[in-house]
Amino acid sequence: MSLLDIRRAGDPVLKEVSQPVQKIDKQLKKLLDDMADTMYKNDGVGLAAPQVGKLIRAVVIDCQDEVGLIELINPKITYREGKAVDTEGCLSVPDIFGEVERAAKVKVEFLNRRGKLQHLTAKGLLARCIQHECDHLEGQLFIDIAQSIHRGQDK
Ligand code: CO
Repeated sequence: MSLLDIRRAGDPVLKEVSQPVQKIDKQLKKLLDDMADTMYKNDGVGLAAPQVGKLIRAVVIDCQDEVGLIELINPKITYREGKAVDTEGCLSVPDIFGEVERAAKVKVEFLNRRGKLQHLTAKGLLARCIQHECDHLEGQLFIDIAQSIHRGQDK
């Protein structure tokens, strides 16, 4: 496993739309392992492949809840319910935080690393994180949609 360089806001790769994963091979599994390492090392709760310069639809998330580490390959949000506003940050936008409105509850389908179709229903932080990471796959950062932005954790 190895740590990957995280692309920062301003890097054009973060504005691109990522391509679906065509084949779940050794290379992809290594990328997922390295992404998880990189996320943990930087105290993040999620990381999307474009943040490490790979324009493919792969995401890792660990909100330190009962779900733990999840790897989402070709994720698709199939259902959204309610609205919630809360503070977000992003490893690609260090030291900046913002208030972002998201669906309060989502259902997402994705492939796991064995190529099996998975369905997950999430609310709270996990739902927020799934939406934030899926936005990265569309080339969108939270600062593009935040209601307000501030430096540091405190408002
Ligand atoms: Co992010």
